Amino acid sequence: DDITARRKDAHLDLCAMGDVEPTGNSTLLECVKLVHCAMPEMSVEDVDLSTAFLGKRLRYPLLVTGMTGGTERAGAVNRDLALLAERHGLAFGVGSQRAMSEDASRAASFQVRQVAPTVALLGNIGMFQAIGLGVEGTRRLVDGIGADGLALHLNAGQELTQPEGDRDFQGGYRVVELLVKAFGDRLLVKETGCGIGPDVARRLVDLGVRNIDVSGLGGTSWVRVEQLRASRVQAQLGAEFSAWGIPTAAALASVRRAVGPDVHLVASGGLRTGLDAAKVLALGANLAGVALPLFRAQQAGGVEAAEAALEVILASLRQALVLTGSRSCAELRQRPRVVTGELKDWFAAL
Ligand code: FNR
Repeated sequence: DDITARRKDAHLDLCAMGDVEPTGNSTLLECVKLVHCAMPEMSVEDVDLSTAFLGKRLRYPLLVTGMTGGTERAGAVNRDLALLAERHGLAFGVGSQRAMSEDASRAASFQVRQVAPTVALLGNIGMFQAIGLGVEGTRRLVDGIGADGLALHLNAGQELTQPEGDRDFQGGYRVVELLVKAFGDRLLVKETGCGIGPDVARRLVDLGVRNIDVSGLGGTSWVRVEQLRASRVQAQLGAEFSAWGIPTAAALASVRRAVGPDVHLVASGGLRTGLDAAKVLALGANLAGVALPLFRAQQAGGVEAAEAALEVILASLRQALVLTGSRSCAELRQRPRVVTGELKDWFAAL
């Protein structure tokens, strides 16, 4: 279990300082332009972005996606960012609870309820750890931190780049089926930066999954993170595949088309500004997910720096609503938008 914990801190160092968003890695959100409204006829105060998630009310349609846990340092990240999610009315996810499942003494670093008593909270486990833990073991992780739901993460690209990673990816849908029975609409299935496309999304929804985070290409690349830790063959594979994946905008637009309006979609992966968040909300996301920018701000300057970064994102999101003349996400989705270039090609192919 120490190995899991040590790997976690190595990952945090790389994400804090390393070049984990390689060139060529793009969300394709640059292909989406929202259209200016010169006469908004509304006040900034009129913007109402509140929404429901996991049976709770959010003030903003934002999720701080699962990142960490298992070490002292990781515990501080979870508490600082969960506190901000509570204060500003966002949803929050802890990172993979694998460390906690291997060693109960690591549970404290995942506990955020003291600072975030009412936040919509997601637990987190990898698909293949969930197979080992079974439904009961998985439920214990979720209940053990007082979470409202479970994020089940998919990361085949990362595993293949990790020297010690999984090599056999059979049996995933079977696990999803069991977890749907246990968690119902409290289950969210997410990627980790390579994107969920429409075919996988359709199969998940057929099994009863009601929440999907497409977690597309364009931001933190876990293939890249593993490349930076790897040597020899694994390092070369990591370099070659570090911009592999379905760009976030392409994944979101095509999954929304494939699954219809009722599935709850989170779009994460490379969202860096409030305007990025506004674009995914316009394209049909229920929630915009952010990880790396808030993590980096927290590492650089603690909760104050993370809050400053978050406040810019929230102000920019509100501004995008006003400048498109939208009071709500529903109105924003009805506004015209321009979609150019490569995003159109992806949308046509998927
Ligand atoms: C992550 N991510 C992640 N996802 C997950 O399901 N379980 C995890 O344990 C982690 N760990 C993790 C650590 C750190 C430091 C980062 C930055 C990210 C992935 C994350 O939830 C998200 O899907 C992607 O990172 C894309 O968003 P960003 O980082 O580009 O905003």
